[in-house]
Amino acid sequence: MPVLEISDLIGAWDPVTGERAPIVKREVIARLREAGHRRAVRIVERMPASGELLEPAAVDRLFVRVHTELQRLGEELHMARRFAELLAPLVAAARRAGTGPPRIVDVGCGIGYVTRALAASGALGGDVELVGVDFNPVLVAEAARLAKDEGLTCRFVRGDAFGLTEPATLYISSGVLHHFPAESLAGFFQAQDRPGTAGFVHYDIAATRLAPLGARVFHRARMREPLGRHDGVASAKRAHGDRVLLDAASRATGMRVFLFEPIRHTNPFCASMRPVVGMRPELVEEARRALGRRARGLVRAGGVRDGHDDGPEGAGR
Ligand SMILES: C[S@@+](CC[C@H](N)C(=O)[O-])C[C@H]1O[C@@H](n2cnc3c(N)ncnc32)[C@H](O)[C@@H]1O
Repeated sequence: MPVLEISDLIGAWDPVTGERAPIVKREVIARLREAGHRRAVRIVERMPASGELLEPAAVDRLFVRVHTELQRLGEELHMARRFAELLAPLVAAARRAGTGPPRIVDVGCGIGYVTRALAASGALGGDVELVGVDFNPVLVAEAARLAKDEGLTCRFVRGDAFGLTEPATLYISSGVLHHFPAESLAGFFQAQDRPGTAGFVHYDIAATRLAPLGARVFHRARMREPLGRHDGVASAKRAHGDRVLLDAASRATGMRVFLFEPIRHTNPFCASMRPVVGMRPELVEEARRALGRRARGLVRAGGVRDGHDDGPEGAGR
């Protein structure tokens, strides 16, 4: 039975024009019912509709509310600091390789929390250009509005993760990979293996057996929106295992690919998010040196297990 997130079903946009597709409420409900998501069915049943269609303005307000709550989770998990820790050595190495001012593109940026926080901290240096991309135009507009309010120079544009037109020194994402079916992941990573790109850092939920329970507790404690609570748990259930991610990322053949602190290396009670990292082979040694002791967390394909099969016995250093 597929695990579905409500947010993937209530909004759809043409990947090229960005035009909104109408969403038929009873079709969303039917898909959730078929997947056995009874709570999700009740959540969508309560959503306003005009005739057969979900009310677009209400859906947009809901997206922004849920993503605002999601930003708070990102703050609690110190996501911007975690990104900076890995990006700083890669940015420094790329700068020395002389590829011009570094450009970081945050794919599936939502309301742009990570991009805005990196811009506000200046942790990567003043010459770094930061761009957020998302296929949801309402979230892109909200990200741009917040950046303006906060006096930041980062930019936000609408775009699809599978048709990225924004060139980047480094591509990043947070909480996005589980939205993509396993069979499409290789294409996602391969598209980032392009001239001028030094690497990628894609954080997502670690697929431990305890992840859905952890997500339930965490989202219930921290989120008020029923949709956010539902999708938070669904995200943990559909998170890709370490091996799936590494196999897919390895199809970007110009990159050396690692998981940073994969399941085997972490305490499953704490390990909520961990990234798959790709870098050009010539940057690896410098990145390792810059990371110091933390470089031991970079693990290649031979050192990981499959994911949801890992339980507490996979813990320990
Ligand atoms: C769980 S949210 C994470 C948002 C943000 N990265 C964060 O950490 O708060 C997933 C995001 O991915 C975006 N997304 C999903 N599929 C996408 C695609 N194919 N192209 C671009 N964005 C996508 C959604 O619109 C949503 O903003």
